[in-house]
Amino acid sequence: MAAQVLSAAPIPSIHTPRPIIRTPTPSSSKPNSTPSTPFTSRFPDGIKTSGQHAPLYDLLRPYEQFPKHITGPTVWKAEDYKDQPGRWTHRFTPEQIEELSDAADAFLANGLPLTGISKETFPLPHLSAFLESVRSELVDGRGFILFKGFPTWAWGNHKSAVAYMGLGTYLGYFVSQNGRGHVLGHVKDLGEDPTQIDKVRIYRTNARQFFHADDADLVGLLCIARALEGGESDIVSSHHVFNVLQAERPDVVRTLTEPIWYFDRKGETSRGQDDYIRTSVFYLEKGENGRVYTKWDPYYVRSLTRFSDAGIIPPLSAAQQEALQVLEQTCLRLALHMILEVGDIQFVSNSQVLHARTEYKDHPPTSSFPRRHLMRLWLATPEGEGGWKLPFHDSFEKKRGGIQVDDTPPVCPLDAE
Ligand SMILES: [Fe+2]
Repeated sequence: MAAQVLSAAPIPSIHTPRPIIRTPTPSSSKPNSTPSTPFTSRFPDGIKTSGQHAPLYDLLRPYEQFPKHITGPTVWKAEDYKDQPGRWTHRFTPEQIEELSDAADAFLANGLPLTGISKETFPLPHLSAFLESVRSELVDGRGFILFKGFPTWAWGNHKSAVAYMGLGTYLGYFVSQNGRGHVLGHVKDLGEDPTQIDKVRIYRTNARQFFHADDADLVGLLCIARALEGGESDIVSSHHVFNVLQAERPDVVRTLTEPIWYFDRKGETSRGQDDYIRTSVFYLEKGENGRVYTKWDPYYVRSLTRFSDAGIIPPLSAAQQEALQVLEQTCLRLALHMILEVGDIQFVSNSQVLHARTEYKDHPPTSSFPRRHLMRLWLATPEGEGGWKLPFHDSFEKKRGGIQVDDTPPVCPLDAE
């Protein structure tokens, strides 16, 4: 059955990844510049996702300017939290659930497109102050939280999606997660081949995901259904990882601070853009005492052999190959493990936390149990609203980051498609 799509805009045709080799240009930093009229009919909240861009290279700092050791609330160890889930878990109170439920019912009754949901159209007069403190903890603190008790089983997918996105608008601006404009993503095994890493996004498979950061400031995962086995979550403080690497393998940190890493767009490319982005893995915020920001996904740097084999970009060097392995092993060693139960929502800040998941196995198709299903949100926290000061031209844009292909409108499918 086709997934229901809630959008005022036409549903875009399915975008087929295009492994087309283009001639590289001197800079990959080309904002989407396609004229966008009539804008609000295409982007119901009036804001377009900025998309992935190359950094402003002249703002990148050399290794010598990075801290030797990071301190503060963004640095945490698994043992700080492992046996104390109360420190990073919030179970919604009955009053909070009622407030979310009422706001979702009112939103649904108004018939507004889910792609236009905002704080104004999803008022939470009581919960908003608490969510503001959660946002601060995510952006500037330990960078993760696990909410429990979101009654997805009682609300069903549609109302759950409304309440989840409504809640999300208090943490950041939702951005598109792929070339099809999905602002409500669905992490589900669609049977795609995870070995085709230049074409397939791993969230659409049951394969293990190595430690990585998503292409947005914050990522949310709402558990709708669990797998038969596996699919468990690991997170790690990238600032703790940075400190450990600085002590044990400063050569690896140096390699990760150099803008020699090419990240694949996996065909999700706007007109005029290169098919990849050259950047560093660790970079510093702009200004004095900038924090260390991490952009990382090994699948995206290992999938570019179609370009390196053709001599268009350099292949990964031996130092890069080793850095990639040392980073993964260090994350694994230091990670905090957690299991998402139905009705749990995990929010993670990609700036200072890396996340991974184990391989999983779904219930057999003949079973009455559904397949593993997580609803995903990518949220932007722009620089002008307390977000990290990133060395990118779109740092102040409300919907910075995300994945935007040309003027593809946002859509909110209620299931994977
Ligand atoms: Fe992810």
